[in-house]
Amino acid sequence: MARTARITSIKDALTQLTIAVPVIFRDGVGRISEGVPPTLGGNDVPRTLTKVWCARQGLKDDPGSSIVLRSLQGPNVAFVSLGESDQDTNAYRLAGAGALRASGEGSVAFLLPTEGLGDPSGVAQALTEGALLSTYSFKDQSAAATFDVAPVGMPLPTVAVHDAVTNGVLRGALVAEAVNWAKYLVDSPAGYLPPKALANEIEERLEEDEHVNVDVWFEAKIKEERLGGLLGVGQGSAQPTRLVYATYDPQPGVAIPHVALVGKGVTFDSGGLSIKSADGMTTMKTDMTGAAVVMAVLSLASRLSLKVRVTAIAPLTENLVGDKATKPGDVLTIRNGMTIEVLNTDAEGRLILADGLSLAAEVSPDVIIDVATLTGSQNVALGDEVGAMFVSNDELAQRLAEASERSGEALWRLPLVGSYESHIESDVADMKNQGKPPKAGAIVAALLLRRFTDGKSWAHLDIAGPARADAARGYVTKGATAFSTRTLVEYLVALSNGANA
Ligand code: BES
Ligand code: MN
Ligand code: ZN
Repeated sequence: MARTARITSIKDALTQLTIAVPVIFRDGVGRISEGVPPTLGGNDVPRTLTKVWCARQGLKDDPGSSIVLRSLQGPNVAFVSLGESDQDTNAYRLAGAGALRASGEGSVAFLLPTEGLGDPSGVAQALTEGALLSTYSFKDQSAAATFDVAPVGMPLPTVAVHDAVTNGVLRGALVAEAVNWAKYLVDSPAGYLPPKALANEIEERLEEDEHVNVDVWFEAKIKEERLGGLLGVGQGSAQPTRLVYATYDPQPGVAIPHVALVGKGVTFDSGGLSIKSADGMTTMKTDMTGAAVVMAVLSLASRLSLKVRVTAIAPLTENLVGDKATKPGDVLTIRNGMTIEVLNTDAEGRLILADGLSLAAEVSPDVIIDVATLTGSQNVALGDEVGAMFVSNDELAQRLAEASERSGEALWRLPLVGSYESHIESDVADMKNQGKPPKAGAIVAALLLRRFTDGKSWAHLDIAGPARADAARGYVTKGATAFSTRTLVEYLVALSNGANA
C-alpha cells in the first residue's frame, strides 16, 4: 500500500491510529525526549525504558527496531529505535520504516523532537523517505493511509525549525515517490513494458515536469543516428527498440553544472543466442534498472528545482533470439565509429551503453555517469547490498562516496586496471565485447565503456546485485530497489548547492 506524507500538529497526531515515538539508546536503556508529551491520548509515556522492559517487549537498540502498545483509549503508541544518536539520517530512514512495520495498515503520526537537531530538514526528509519507500508494493497501489510528521519540542520548535521540517517532509515525499515509480517500472513484467511501452511511461511522467524536454527516438531515427550497438542488440526481438533522450535545463544559457546520465534499458535479457540458463533468466526483467534510475533522477532534479543541467539518455531494447539476432562473431559499429566484435551476445549492456555514452560525450557535459545492471561479476564480488563504482578521477569518486554515505546506498570503488585492456583486444575489430571469463568481468566491462567517454570526467555504477532485493530489509522492499537513484540525487543536490562537478 502506497502512502502520502504530511506535516501535522500534535493535536492532529492524536487522531491517527498510531503515534510513533522515537527512542534513543544509551547503555541499553531507552530514552524518550522531553519534547514528547508525558501522556498521549490517556497513555502515560515514561522518559526511560529499562533494559528488562525493552527485552521483554522485543524493542532492540538497532535503528528501526519497533514495537507497538495497543490502547483501549487513545491512539496506539509505537516505540521506534533511533539507535544511539538522534542526528543520524540513515537511522531516521530505518525509523520511518520501523514505525510503519509496528503500526500495520492504519495511519501513523511520527513525533519528531527537534531540540538540538543539527539538520532538521535532512532528518525529516530521511524519516519520510524511509517510511514511504517501505510502503511500496507492486501488487497493491492503493493509497488509503497517511504518514504524518509532527515536530515537537521543549521548548516548542521555532518557526524556522518548523519550516525546515516541513521542507524535509516534502522533499522526502518527492524522493520516495520517484524511487517507487522507478521500482514499479522495474517490477513490471517485460511483457507489460517492452521498450515502446516503457518509453511511453517515461515520456508521460517527464512531460509533466518543468524545464524538462523529452524525445523518444524510433528505429528510423536510431539508424539515422548510427547507434549500431543498440540496433545490433535489438534486432533479435520482435519488439521495436527505442531511445529516450531527456533534458532538464532550469536556466537556459546560464553556465550551471551539467551532468549527463546514461542508463542501461534492456527490458528483458535472455542472453541472445549466447542464451542464459532458465534460472539465470528469471529476474532479467530487472535489466532496465539503469534506465529507470536515470529518468527518476532527472524527474527529481526538476521536482526539487535543482540548479543543475541534466541530460539523461536511455537506450531501451530487448535481448532476444529471433532469426535476425546478432550472432557471435558479428561486428557492430558504434555511434563514435569504433567497432566491437560480439563474441558473447549476453554481454549486450556494454554494446548499447557504448552508443549512449558516445551521445553523452557529444554534449560536452562536466560529468558523465552511467548506471547499469552490467555484470554477474559485480554481484559475485560485492553481493546485493553494495554497488560497484568505477571512476575516472579521485575528486568525482570522493563526491560520489559522500553522496552514497548520505543516501545509505553503499558503493565500493573498484579499479580500472589499465593492463586488462589487453583482455578485449580483437583480431577483427577495435575491441571484443568479452574478456577472459571468469576473470575481472566487472572491470573489463568498465574498461570497454571508458573507451566511449572521450576522456571526460566519468563514473560507471554497476548495480547488477543491488538492483533487486531477495527479501525486504529496513526500508528496502523485496524485488526492485531502483538502487543508486537517491545517491545520484544527493550528488546533484551537492552540485546545486555549489560543490564542484
Ligand atoms: N544483465 C546481465 C548481468 C546481470 C547478471 C545482472 C545477474 C543481474 C544479475 C548482463 O547483460 C550479462 O549477462 N553479463 C554477462 C557478461 C558476460 C557474458 C561477459 C555476465 O556478467 O555474466
Ligand atoms: Mn546479458
Ligand atoms: Zn544484461
